[in-house]
Amino acid sequence: LNATGFRNEPLRDFARQSDRERMAQAVASVRKMFGRRYGAQVAYRELPATETLPSLNPAAPDEVVGEVGMASLRDTEEALQAASQAQQSWATTPVEERARLVLAVAEAMRRRRDELAAWMVWEVGKTWREADGDVCEAIDFCEYYAREAMELERPERLGRLPGELNELMYVPRGVSAVIAPWNFPLAILTGMTMAAAVTGNAVIMKPAEQSSVIAAQLMNLCNEVGFPPGVIGFLPGRGEVVGEALVTDARVHTVAFTGSMEVGLQIVEKAAKMAPGQAHVKHVVCEMGGKNAIIVDADADLDEAVTGVVHSAFGFQGQKCSACSRVIVHQSCYEAFKERLVEAVKSVLLGPPAEPGTKIGPVVDAQAKASIERYIALGRDEGRVLVQREVPESQGYYVGPTVIEGITPEHRLAQEEIFGPVLALMKAESFDQALAMANSTRFALTGGVYSRSPSNIARARREFAVGNLYINRGITGALVYRNPFGGFKLSGAGTKAGGPDYLLHFMNPRVVVENT
Ligand code: SER
Repeated sequence: LNATGFRNEPLRDFARQSDRERMAQAVASVRKMFGRRYGAQVAYRELPATETLPSLNPAAPDEVVGEVGMASLRDTEEALQAASQAQQSWATTPVEERARLVLAVAEAMRRRRDELAAWMVWEVGKTWREADGDVCEAIDFCEYYAREAMELERPERLGRLPGELNELMYVPRGVSAVIAPWNFPLAILTGMTMAAAVTGNAVIMKPAEQSSVIAAQLMNLCNEVGFPPGVIGFLPGRGEVVGEALVTDARVHTVAFTGSMEVGLQIVEKAAKMAPGQAHVKHVVCEMGGKNAIIVDADADLDEAVTGVVHSAFGFQGQKCSACSRVIVHQSCYEAFKERLVEAVKSVLLGPPAEPGTKIGPVVDAQAKASIERYIALGRDEGRVLVQREVPESQGYYVGPTVIEGITPEHRLAQEEIFGPVLALMKAESFDQALAMANSTRFALTGGVYSRSPSNIARARREFAVGNLYINRGITGALVYRNPFGGFKLSGAGTKAGGPDYLLHFMNPRVVVENT
């Protein structure tokens, strides 16, 4: 096995009746499993919880998808002890065996992929298509990291001088804490967790509160394939309790975090402080937010651009760190683009994500809805609302896709991550100005350019400062191996999930020189 043999898991094709029927069945049968209890798990033991919180269906918040036992500080201590105990023997377990278990997780996911997707439809409001993509990405992370880990394990000989054997090798760092987001509740949690595990680190998963039930499905898959006790721990709970305790504990060597800039920066700061008894420097892998722009150049194919922008801005209700939240349009095609954009936004099908035809569902929870609505209100002051879609009559957390024009780089709508279906439309006098506007935020995650001009494309390649730049296509949906994903500036510390150097974050490099 090696990475060259890796292939991305093919998506379901819901235009095909068989794929559609399987998914419809999964959506219905998962619904029958609503209301079950999930709690912290350490070394194959489920820990009793004193406090339980319901996880709700965002499309119908009176429906409880599952009851989640909140992990306490004592549970966190148990998980840390179990992980520390498991660490030594897991680190010395041959990589083939670690990779075998990770590949077994991928296989188990394949067998249950519609069911896993259905959990995401119900718990976080993903459409079928988005949920299916999430499962495929989770499978890809397992397959890719397992292959990469095996390649990394072989010591590399450096130099070929006679009488000297120099070898570079990588060894596990130690217990890892994974603090995961709800927006790719299976894929990103799986990616961070399996990256840590396959490289020989015991891992403690702290899922996002909003997606604990999906996370519990991953924990159950890990139990099914039989990781040694203590290697994978599960602590659903509050960030301020569990997350904080993990980040500040001396036994944790690596913190892998994906989420907001605010939380990411706090983690970086807290992890930098030495805890009593700590004899290592903690490493933080942080992937944070974005304020991503797509530039539409004067000679762009507007049909392509409109489709790409709408998909990138409103897919999963704009709740992707990769989502387009600014579209910067050259003045010469501004009016034409604007007209078509508004028409396209008006025609997207809004509704419950459990319905197969839905393109845009609810946002994740009441807090998200309130915060996005505050930004729309602000947008009315800063600019002019071109379209704000009516939402379905329902208690669901729907926010109508919204486009606001007249936004300039000074506005908050051009600078702050909204994480919802809100798109700022900005006008540029020239390609130069468009690039300057695109680069005028604290973030550097994704970006896009629609252009037919080779020289402008060449300039964007050089000067558009983002971790993932997409030319003449949408800017979401990075694929494992083919599009390693992650940004810099305040979008993250330069890590690339699904790429060749990601696993190195969980390892220490060593060099051995032997005089032969
Ligand atoms: N990797 C996702 C995407 O590219 C975002 O997290 O859309």
